[in-house]
Parts: sequence; structure tokens; C-alpha cells
Amino acid sequence: MNATEQKPSIAFYSTKPYDIEAFNANNTAGFNINYLDAHLTPKTVKLAEGHQAVCAFVNDTLDEKVLTALKALGVQTIVMRCAGFNNVDVPKAAELGMRVLRVPAYSPYAVAEHALALIMTLNRKTYKAFNRVRDGNFLLDGLVGFDVHGKTVGVIGTGKIGEIFASIMKGMGCTVLAYDPYPNDAVKAMGATYVSLDDLLAQSDMVSLHCPLMPATYHMINDASVAKMKKGSMLINTSRGGLIETQAVIDGLKTGQIGALGLDVYEEEGDLFFEDLSCDVIHDDVFSRLLTFPNVLITGHQAFLTQEALHNIARTTIANLEDAFASRTSVNEVK
Ligand code: NAI
Repeated sequence: MNATEQKPSIAFYSTKPYDIEAFNANNTAGFNINYLDAHLTPKTVKLAEGHQAVCAFVNDTLDEKVLTALKALGVQTIVMRCAGFNNVDVPKAAELGMRVLRVPAYSPYAVAEHALALIMTLNRKTYKAFNRVRDGNFLLDGLVGFDVHGKTVGVIGTGKIGEIFASIMKGMGCTVLAYDPYPNDAVKAMGATYVSLDDLLAQSDMVSLHCPLMPATYHMINDASVAKMKKGSMLINTSRGGLIETQAVIDGLKTGQIGALGLDVYEEEGDLFFEDLSCDVIHDDVFSRLLTFPNVLITGHQAFLTQEALHNIARTTIANLEDAFASRTSVNEVK
């Protein structure tokens, strides 16, 4: 057995070509990475047999059943190549003595800038203009936008991404309102004002979600909160789909209470995103309804997808694996 074969091996689920490129370029520790197309589910957990660690992504399943099966196969370590860990049963992992590490920050700019891209695309309707001009249709009817300068933007969750998003919007000349149970001094220093969630919803022309999904934030945008929003305002979600009760925003779009909706995440995205379903029938009627609105723009969980972010994700994940196999403590451990 040569030196490479003795390195720990990693079952790498939900692999995409850009993952292979980034991880091969950053695998300085020489881990044996087994790139698997499959998502991690109770059915595919067997593929982890013979590996010491599992590397997983946002729509992999790491519930009690999967974690117990992984443990029985000898897997000791879970490395999430993302920031969110709402799909991991962390208490169960702790009970099983398995370590869970993640990449808390890899490029907050990537996500904050994508939120801006959704806002500007919806506002100036460049998605329509692109098709019109290619079709030789140079009419401007229906393309009227608004100056973002001077508008009020509400930022829900002012951690790493929310802070950068707030500073981008400040730079565009917006009044920034913020809501977070743990206010951020840097956000206050840039001149943003912390207000109650109700005040933020009532006053904002654009609302952008940047808080994590957890029991307290699940469906924080629901019928009641949509009713509190300023009529015709824009809602942006680049955080996690479960923050929004989708039927409530569909109802809000139908009445005009919500003027435009930009989503990079969707509550039931696990059955859709990251796959080519262009030749398939989509069975999710709620998602299909969203696609019928002219003022809804959906991207398939790509806010993180920049060269810089992929590089940082790979580098930190390899470092997390090195810490785990050397039994070192890590600030990236999820507890
Ligand atoms: P962070 O942990 O730095 O900030 C989250 C903030 O939300 C914290 O300030 C926290 O106090 C606040 N918060 C907690 N409960 C809240 C509540 N009930 N209401 C309002 N705010 C609340 O996280 P970071 O790095 O800024 O990421 C935010 C979220 O963005 C992540 O949880 C993740 O779900 C999402 N994300 C999405 C990506 C994508 O590709 N679409 C990529 C990376 C992250």
C-alpha cells in the first residue's frame, strides 16, 4: 500500500464538476476523495462504506436514520461544504460521537452580491429585455423600473452576509432598516437603524432575508407578515427556503401586496435544484405556480457560486478534515 492509499478516504456526496475542480486544486493533504453523484439519503448511505468521513452539501439528508447508518459503517466525521447545517441532526451526531464541521464563511460577498443581482434584475427587468432584444423587439413597454437610490431596504439578519448586503445598499443611497435579535455594531456604524420586524416590514420598499433557518425563523414570512409588508414591495430570499411559507407569498403576489419576488432558495428545493430536469414534468404545483408570475425571479441556489467562494469552501473543508483526523479542536465545529 503506498502513502496515498493510507490517507483517510472521504465519501463526497452530491458532486458537481465545479466541486471536483475546486477540491482537486485544494486537496493539499492528499485525502482520497471519492466523488459521488448521489445525494446522501437513507438509500445511498451504503456508498459511505469504507470511508472515514463524509462530505455533504445543503440538500443532503443527515437525519437520525442516516447518521446512525453512517456511524455503523465506521464514519466518524461529517464535513459540510456549506455554512448552513439545518439539514444535520446535530444533537444526534453528538450522541453518536460524530464530529460535524462546516465552512461558516467562505465569501459573504458572493451571497450579498447575488441578492443585489436579484433586486436589480427584477427592478430593471433585464431578464425580459434580454429576450426582447434577441427577438428584435425593442419596445420598452412594461420595462419601467425604479431608482434604488433613496428607497428603504429592510435587512432581516445582519450577520456576515446581512452586514455586507447592508453596506452595498447604503452605497446605493438607500435608507437601511435592520432586524436582528443580536444587533451588529458595524451595521449601526454604517448608519442603519435597528427596528422591530413589524416596522421593517411596514416601511421597506425591498426586504432581504439573511438569517438562518431554525425553529424560531421557520415560516417567518407567512400570511400575517405578508399583510404587514408595504404594498407592492419586493421580497428577496437568498438564505433558506423554509423562512418563507410559499403559499403566503403566492397569495401576496396575486393581490399585489408583494410587488416582486426574488428567490435563490425554495422550501422544497431538495427535489428540484442542482439537477437538469428540463425534460421532466415538474410535480411541485406550488413551485410551478411561482414560475407563472412575470415578477418572480428564481435562481437555483447559486448565490454562493463564485470562484472565490468555491476555492475558500474547498480550502476550509480540507483544513476541517485535517483537524478532525488529527483530533484537534476547531472553531468550525457545529455543536
Ligand atoms: P451569520 O450567522 O453570520 O448571520 C446570521 C444572522 O441572523 C445573525 O446575526 C443572527 O443573530 C441573525 N438571526 C438569528 N435569528 C434571527 C431572527 N429570528 N431574525 C432575524 N435575524 C436573526 O450567517 P451568514 O453567514 O450571514 O449567513 C446567513 C444565511 O445565509 C445562512 O444561515 C444560510 O442559510 C444562508 N446562505 C445561503 C447561501 C446561498 O448560496 N444561497 C450561501 C451561504 C449562506
